[in-house]
Formats: sequence, C-alpha cells, structure tokens
Amino acid sequence: VRVFPDAGAASRAAADRIASTIRAASPGHRAILGMATGATPQKVYSHLASLHAAGGLSFRDAVTYNLDEYYPIQPLDPKSYRCYMHRHFFSLVDLPPQQGHVLDGTVPEGFVAAHCAEFERWIEADGGLDLQLLGIGRNGHIGFNEPSELTVAEALALPTRLIELHPLTREDAAREFGGVDKVIPRALTLGVRAILSARSILMLATGAHKAEAVAAALAGQMRASLPASLLQAAGERVTWLVDEAAASGV
Ligand code: GLP
Repeated sequence: VRVFPDAGAASRAAADRIASTIRAASPGHRAILGMATGATPQKVYSHLASLHAAGGLSFRDAVTYNLDEYYPIQPLDPKSYRCYMHRHFFSLVDLPPQQGHVLDGTVPEGFVAAHCAEFERWIEADGGLDLQLLGIGRNGHIGFNEPSELTVAEALALPTRLIELHPLTREDAAREFGGVDKVIPRALTLGVRAILSARSILMLATGAHKAEAVAAALAGQMRASLPASLLQAAGERVTWLVDEAAASGV
C-alpha cells in the first residue's frame, strides 16, 4: 500500500507504472493493459496523454482491454464506457484503434455469454494482462463485480459476464445518467478470475468517500460481500495507490 498526499500524486504514480510497462514493450512483446473507467482514472489518462503529447510515450505496441461496459448500450452513447475511453484516452494517444478493446454493449442477449468468453480468450491469446488498473466502488466492487453471498472460492472463480448493478452503484452512477431511475441497471464485467490473473494489479483509490471500502478490503479475510478484499489472493502482485483521504481508515 502506497499513500500519496493527494489524488494527483497517486494518479501520476499509476500513470508512471503504466508508462514503464509500455516502454518495456516491443512489436514482438506488446504491453497488454487492463483499463478502468469512472472518475478516479481520469487523471491517469490525462497524465498518459501529456506524456504522449510531449513525445515521450507511444502506445503503438500496447493493447488495451476495458474492465466493464453498461448493457445494453450503444458505443456512441455519451454514457458508454467506449465513449468515455474515446474522450479520455483513445482520441488523445496513438493506440491503433483495433488494439483498444471494450466489451460490446450491443451484443444480442443470447450471445452475451459467448461474447464474454471470447473477450477472455482474446486476452489469453495476447499473452494475458501485464497490468490491470482498478478502481473501487463505495460498496467494495471491482469492475462491476458486485458484493454477493457466494463463497470465497466461487467469487474468485467468477467469469466475465452480465451482472445487475448493486443499489449503491446505481446511486453513484445517477449523476452521469441524470437520475437513479435512468441508470442502465445491468452491465458486462471482466470476472474476478480474469482480474486476478493479471501479472500486476494497480488499485487506485482517492477521496474520503472511498476510505471505508479501502480499509475494509485491506483488513480481515477475503469475502465475496466485499469483492476488493479478494485482491488479497493476488498477494504481492497487487499495489494499492491511495491518497491520504482514502487511506484515512487504514
Ligand atoms: C464504477 C466502475 C468501476 C469503478 C468504480 C469506481 O462503477 N464500474 O470500474 O472502478 O465504479 O468509480 P469512481 O472512480 O467513479 O469512484
């Protein structure tokens, strides 16, 4: 766990880790990156875009896979995570478009399971995630893996799939959607199993509203009721980057 004075410093540390993963890549060994959305990583993307604009970082040998997407949703819907990624990252860097993957919110319902399995296979075919960037929900979710009553073994094995948003997640998304009843109630998410398979995991948590979830995830045993606690299973592969406000309960 690394504690930084503010969100800017924690985000810069995350961007620097991503940048060094990318700099270690080559056409024969591309950097495979798991990306996150939400308010928290916006500063990470703007820092990466600045490094790129200054001529110090190219994404040509990077491949990205996003954690989650609302379902159903059109890619051009401003509330889609595809659109978020375009706004905050894809349009600002030289990542070749075919190397930026986001789960498809337009897949017909009958094909969702096949699409989710295929998304995991693409990651594996690329050699697996070198680095997964994560945020934490106030209820302790990672991606859209919401709290559940599963056993720990079942939760650790959760595949990429369609889920129903937890009430607190819907509440938090209400601002973007213009009201809690307008929030799209379902989403596709990379499963816990795929997240934990990443060779390196960066959990970025900033702000006092995250303090309770951060403290709970780091304390006590792993439990499905607090999905971020399952990161304990990845041991030393996980780094928590938190600002002082988010660390206040630890
Ligand atoms: C969102 C996303 C998560 C994200 C989390 C925190 O709903 N599905 O991937 O990490 O909730 O979001 P924020 O950074 O806006 O607090």
